[in-house]
Amino acid sequence: MRKVQFTETVLRDANQSLIATRLPYDVYEPILEKIDQAGYYAVECWGGATFDVCLRYLNEDPWERLQKLRKKLPNSKLQMLLRGQNLLGYKHYPDDVVRKFVECSVKNGIDIIRIFDALNDLTNLKTAIEETLKWGAVASGTICYTTSPVHTLDNYVKMVKEMKRMGVSSICIKDMAGIMGPKEAYDLVSAIKDAVDLPVDVHTHCTTGLAFMTYLKAVEAGADIIDTAISPFSGGTSQPATETMAYALKQMGYEVTTDDAVLKEIADFFKPVRDGYIADGTLMPKSLTTDTQCLTYQVPGGMLSNLMSQLKMMNALDRFDEALLETPRVRKDLGYPPLVTPTSQMVGVQAVQNVLAGERYKNVSKEIVAYCRGEYGRTPAPIDPEVQKKVLGGEEPLTGRYADTLEPAFEKTKAQLGDMARCDEDVLSYIAFPSLAEKFFEDRRAREENVATYTIEEV
Ligand code: CO
Repeated sequence: MRKVQFTETVLRDANQSLIATRLPYDVYEPILEKIDQAGYYAVECWGGATFDVCLRYLNEDPWERLQKLRKKLPNSKLQMLLRGQNLLGYKHYPDDVVRKFVECSVKNGIDIIRIFDALNDLTNLKTAIEETLKWGAVASGTICYTTSPVHTLDNYVKMVKEMKRMGVSSICIKDMAGIMGPKEAYDLVSAIKDAVDLPVDVHTHCTTGLAFMTYLKAVEAGADIIDTAISPFSGGTSQPATETMAYALKQMGYEVTTDDAVLKEIADFFKPVRDGYIADGTLMPKSLTTDTQCLTYQVPGGMLSNLMSQLKMMNALDRFDEALLETPRVRKDLGYPPLVTPTSQMVGVQAVQNVLAGERYKNVSKEIVAYCRGEYGRTPAPIDPEVQKKVLGGEEPLTGRYADTLEPAFEKTKAQLGDMARCDEDVLSYIAFPSLAEKFFEDRRAREENVATYTIEEV
């Protein structure tokens, strides 16, 4: 009997996809003991947007959250999602910062780091993979799944072989928009399994309704791990339900390691939590529905609503069809980037600009200029030379890796912060989100001073 394992996403991706990552640690702490006993392959609980949201909205120290998770989940592998050279932010960081960030993540309790790059440029994964291996954690080399004339099985296989040479311990196929169909999954997993002897983890979203079929065919092709969310936080823009996949796969004769009784207890815990977020409007009904438009236009669901709200703001909603047609053309001009943060936003905004200005690439954002200069990495296909020339206005694009042009920043920032940072983790929070971290440090101090005063009065 072949074994299929599950990575539970409720604490990270399901939380991020359905309720904009607003779950505070204290809300889910009571159920961690059960999660630890459920028989998951791993618990995805950190990284992605959790870091930003902890500081920005929850007044939580993301590092302290990780330490608490580690303590409460002693038997589980803790997984985080890392945007390669972007870490958990939105720009590229110098290598010394990437190294320190990975080191601190592992030292504070992370076991598996899933590392991806928005352009699938492997030079942006190199430093993070090296450092993950150095500290003894699992480096999961990740493909951002997309479709285009250059995203062929051959090219994906080349990428996977190269990641294996770089030392990754497993391969993840990350389908952020839920556009990978069952046949595509079957063919891709089969091709990867033929090419390398590594565990394959498939990650998708229910957005278009394909996900359950996609997982089944991926498993038939040899996928070892699938990412699922406990039922109350599953479906819609989130992952397929853990219990449903466990039920179906067992019926199909696979060995499944999760414990049904424990899964039920976890589901019972999260039901009222979810209902609370529905009641207060954080979880919108739209996020739980199926949206097949992305299959027609090959544009992720989130991008469609962004296009619409941009046009609405400019009183130009009647140009929606034009903007929609322009989107794949911009993507082609830019060398077919996978549409994931931040490229999806960049392509969408540019499509709207091209339509409204009446001249293509007359107005361009500074992000598109940086992209054409090569600051985000090598694009899957070359950028259209005419477009690149127009955007750069004669300036030459970079030839090497952008991070190589960046000065080391960790020690310098640490010295500059002085007492404000109490540990290396604080320095990293500051480098990732300077103003958010500064405010968090001030609030933390104020909180402690209040407690101190109170204690003295008590005595
Ligand atoms: Co995801």
